[in-house]
Amino acid sequence: MSGLIKSSIARKVVMALSGLFLVFFLAQHFTINITSVIDPETFNTWSHFMGYNPLVQYVLQPILIAGVIIHFVMGFVLEIQNRKARGINYVKYKGGANAPWISRNMIISGAVVLAFIGLHMYDFWVHEMAYKYIEAKPEDPTRYYAETVEKFAPIWRTVLYIVSFGLLALHLLHGFASSFQTMGVNNKYSPAIQTFTKIFAIAIPLGFAFIAIYHHLNPITH
Ligand code: HEM
Repeated sequence: MSGLIKSSIARKVVMALSGLFLVFFLAQHFTINITSVIDPETFNTWSHFMGYNPLVQYVLQPILIAGVIIHFVMGFVLEIQNRKARGINYVKYKGGANAPWISRNMIISGAVVLAFIGLHMYDFWVHEMAYKYIEAKPEDPTRYYAETVEKFAPIWRTVLYIVSFGLLALHLLHGFASSFQTMGVNNKYSPAIQTFTKIFAIAIPLGFAFIAIYHHLNPITH
């Protein structure tokens, strides 16, 4: 029994640490992407750096992919465990009375974000791989801004992205805050940390939505 509890706690810790790592990625991804609205040249410079720097390509990118896979696989394992536990203790489990909708449905918001990442990889990463390795085109540090703006021309993609950012906000609202609780952070800074996580969970997805809407409304015409 204690082994089971320990392994379940270990899984939660893995979930929290991989989640915090993905939050770091989101913050850096947002910082680069917001420059596409502020200064396209800076966006091109950073995107080219990210696309061709060997450390980013061969070390950070595989770590990021591993982080996404670990978080997603562990999330499913935890969900199945929780469902089993509820099945056994169904008399005690009071559903909505025990936890708010967002925390009970992390698996749903997580699955939507995962589906979004699938579409997003198709939009950007597959194109990038084809450009570099299949078509073997030469380096062009000026292409990223136009390629990104173009993606937001169809309204359907812009709307799909915005809906996904909404679900991402819900996922982060519960997940980012609870990762600190899982890690046992409990001190005088805890209220400030909780407030910060809530602000981040709303502001970053809103910022991503702003980028998508901005590019949809400001297409490149020449
Ligand atoms: C308006 C919002 C967004 C824009 C304009 C955007 C843009 C981009 C671009 C241009 C790339 C390609 C980078 C490269 O080729 O190396 C990329 C990659 C990626 N994006 Fe986004 N992104 C947005 C939102 C998001 C969000 C919300 C997530 C996560 C939930 C996300 C996850 C990723 C991931 C995992 C990659 C692959 C990173 C890599 O390995 O290169 N993106 N994005």
